[in-house]
Amino acid sequence: MEKLYDKLVAYSREDYYPMHMPGHKRNKAMVSMINPYEIDITEIDGFDNLHQADGILRELSNRVSNLYGSVKSYLLVNGSTAGILAGICAATKPQDKVIVARNCHKSVYHGIVLRNLEPLYIYPQTIPGIPIYGGILPEKLDEMLIKHPDTKLIIITSPTYEGIVSDIEELAAVAHGHGALLMVDEAHGAHFGFHKGFPESAISKGADIVIQSVHKTLPAFTQTAILHLNQENISRSIEKYLSIYQSSSPSYILMAGIDRCISLLEQDSPKLFEDYINKLEKFYKAMDKLKNMQIIDKSYLVQQGIFNNKGQGYGIYDVDPSKITISVRNTSINGHSLGQLLREKYKIAMEMEALDYILGMTSICDTQRGFEGLAKALLEIDKDIKPYYGEDNIKTKTYDLEDLQIVNRDKEQVFTPSDAMEQPVEIVPLRESLNRISASFISLFPPGSPVLVPGEKINETIILFIKEALSSGLAVNGLIGEEKMQVEVIKGS
Ligand SMILES: Cc1ncc(COP(=O)(O)O)c(C=O)c1O
Repeated sequence: MEKLYDKLVAYSREDYYPMHMPGHKRNKAMVSMINPYEIDITEIDGFDNLHQADGILRELSNRVSNLYGSVKSYLLVNGSTAGILAGICAATKPQDKVIVARNCHKSVYHGIVLRNLEPLYIYPQTIPGIPIYGGILPEKLDEMLIKHPDTKLIIITSPTYEGIVSDIEELAAVAHGHGALLMVDEAHGAHFGFHKGFPESAISKGADIVIQSVHKTLPAFTQTAILHLNQENISRSIEKYLSIYQSSSPSYILMAGIDRCISLLEQDSPKLFEDYINKLEKFYKAMDKLKNMQIIDKSYLVQQGIFNNKGQGYGIYDVDPSKITISVRNTSINGHSLGQLLREKYKIAMEMEALDYILGMTSICDTQRGFEGLAKALLEIDKDIKPYYGEDNIKTKTYDLEDLQIVNRDKEQVFTPSDAMEQPVEIVPLRESLNRISASFISLFPPGSPVLVPGEKINETIILFIKEALSSGLAVNGLIGEEKMQVEVIKGS
């Protein structure tokens, strides 16, 4: 029987290049530690206690807070997930109304369920012809808050998985103008604010609670993250909930990993980020030669008149160059087949495959060899693929592209997620689920934002989307049964 440890060691010795998280990229020249067993302790004398930190762990979180310019910061060892759950619970009371960007990660929905909240969804902007979402418009938020003045908390994801940054300063002003707090899931933005080539962090833009996964875009171990506060008055409540959602035995190895990462940034961030942006710029320049695939970066969005630096129209305030988004929308192949080709032929492992694009995650630990390898592979593949409209103008794919902007379709919410999860359920084949009410979450993983939330009515587009995702080889979480073709719906719905 294959054993996990042996498999991990064997994989690390194969020469796959990681265009995915964790941000340390297994780059031994950038990160190293002694044998982890030698420093694996629990809360022994002199080493503080994460749940009541007043010693070395408090000092570390103060350093984090100084570096990012927050009022207070907390170390997370259970990922951004724990910070998101704690942030939601600390800023609300049961049954409160919250406005939630519909493209939020599932952990946000889990917080809503745990706190029994009433979510009102704000939808990210759809961009015609482009398979990724735009940002959240402040004016839309304002309209919703006028209609729902009793809203307590706004939760948005910025940057999105693909690096789209919303206008946080405006969103915070709107939220505050209506007496609500703004929480930003900045899980993919722990590297923001260190160099002018990258967006600024939501912390400097006035968000109240900001959560960042250190492990995603910086050199740190998986599960490490930070919660930042821009105001002192909810800190007691945050601490209470963090001690519920975080392990009572937090790993000192993980926390030491955060320490190493913060030290690196304190000492060397200008040089590290300057080198990094230079490598990225070279990569994007090489991509100008693509004929069929399209890199969706800031310059492409500017060229298309989609991004104008003011967050207008599509709600895009900035774009993070660290995410390499490659659209295959206008080609004969889908995201999964491109991902497979890169993995099998070029030994490059990407972060995410979606229907119409794939995504590479980069960091200060990526090497020139890594960027050049990806550029060369993409240019080679690009020569061999065909456009979406092939010979005689016949489609080379089975689906109509505009049908698949799934998260952006208003869905009928019949129950709140928490109420839906308390209902009796039955299991039905996906093909017979039309107009039934979902009893569970269904999401593509990654990115992990739900296509269906408990309490939402299943419509035709959702069924089509799930079928296309499955037949394109993508991982759909939440389907059940041996063939993974059944869904849990509310009994009698
Ligand atoms: C946007 C977003 N938020 C939150 C999370 C959860 O972060 P973590 O894995 O650090 O718990 C993820 C994970 O992928 C994410 O993509």
